[in-house]
Amino acid sequence: MLSQKTIDIIKSTVPVLEVHGTTITTVFYENLFEAHPELLNVFNHANQKKGRQQNALANTVLAAAKYIDQLETILPAVKQIAQKHRSLAVKPEHYPIVGEFLLGAIKEVLKDAATEEIIHAWGEAYGVIAGVFISIEKEMYDQASNQDGGWSDFKPFTVVEKVQESDVITSFYLKPANGDAVPSFLPGQYVTIRMEIQGERYLFNRQYSLSASPGKDYFRISVKKEKPGISPDGRVSNYLHEVIQVGDMIDVTAPAGDFTINMEKQTPLVFLSGGVGITPFMSMVHAVADQKPERDVQFIHASENGALQPFRSELTELSRKLTNYQLSFVYKNPSEEDKNLPNFEKQGYMDAELLSSHVKPEADYYVCGPVPFMKAIITCLKELGIDPEKIHYEFFGPAIAL
Ligand code: HEM
Repeated sequence: MLSQKTIDIIKSTVPVLEVHGTTITTVFYENLFEAHPELLNVFNHANQKKGRQQNALANTVLAAAKYIDQLETILPAVKQIAQKHRSLAVKPEHYPIVGEFLLGAIKEVLKDAATEEIIHAWGEAYGVIAGVFISIEKEMYDQASNQDGGWSDFKPFTVVEKVQESDVITSFYLKPANGDAVPSFLPGQYVTIRMEIQGERYLFNRQYSLSASPGKDYFRISVKKEKPGISPDGRVSNYLHEVIQVGDMIDVTAPAGDFTINMEKQTPLVFLSGGVGITPFMSMVHAVADQKPERDVQFIHASENGALQPFRSELTELSRKLTNYQLSFVYKNPSEEDKNLPNFEKQGYMDAELLSSHVKPEADYYVCGPVPFMKAIITCLKELGIDPEKIHYEFFGPAIAL
């Protein structure tokens, strides 16, 4: 329990943190990785370079400071982060290291303004926040390892099949190398894969949604080949596409994540995806087809054109199972051939006009794709009067406010 005095000190530092939050976390990461370069085997180097991780951590620390006496208010956000931590095998012993360097960074940036009293209060508060994360993560580790075929850390998987889904997306079918069964998972969940890339000093970790339904004897991930550049962006996806072959091994963590569908509900489902944002919806729509084939499903996917459209035939064939199913493709620059394809609905964007013809007030809406796409779709849905509680979305990468 924090004393009222500590709570008051923490709350009074929020305005300062709001000004310096990102600088503090930037300094924090620089010092952390200098002292503990082994942690570069855990963190995503591309997110670091873009400063995404710094902002995500800064936002969370700020939120925690604001709500330090009622942490239950931010529990949903904590759980989402804890899912990410668990999927990356973040351990309790990492927390004191992060705490030490976070306090060090506060001191370094705020200089004399960071009095002994303030640093002490933050030390206590960090202990409370870390304790919440550690206990939630413990439950998640236990749950992951206790289920049939489950495990708690990384486990070697073999690539058993590689299937090209579009000009830029390829699926990898993965089976545990030791012949174990794969555990069940919630449709929409993701796994972390960890790879050693030739010529690179540190391991690379990436999260990919599972794109096949639960209940198979394999996991499937579907990876977009990002444009290779000078940044580490695209390093993993290019390696997977170009180097990794059937028979190769990849380390994988157990499925995690809370972007999923409630299979108990009967409400219509509207899936709205852009580009590779389609992947979590593949496991969701297959799960609905397997378990609730009568549920009303509308699936609308936006791509650049037909050549970049993944899973066309897989989605089309679902009409054999789903009895209330509408599938539409929207292409920004379709070829003449694309325009004649079955289920081609519109040239251009997934906009308010298109959405208004698909809106059902009682439906649950699932949105996934690039950030500008998600912002536009969520805005449109709200303008069309959809209850925000019924709009569910997931952004690939550190959770940032949309
Ligand atoms: C991700 C906060 C402790 C490692 C994140 C994210 C937040 C966050 C907000 C982004 C979540 C997302 O991507 O959806 C915190 C807070 C901590 C804490 C408030 C302390 C109370 C730790 C510790 C480690 C760690 C102890 C392990 C050394 C990571 C990693 C990611 C992550 C590897 C994924 C980011 C990436 O590389 O893309 N954390 N974290 N965190 N956290 Fe933490």
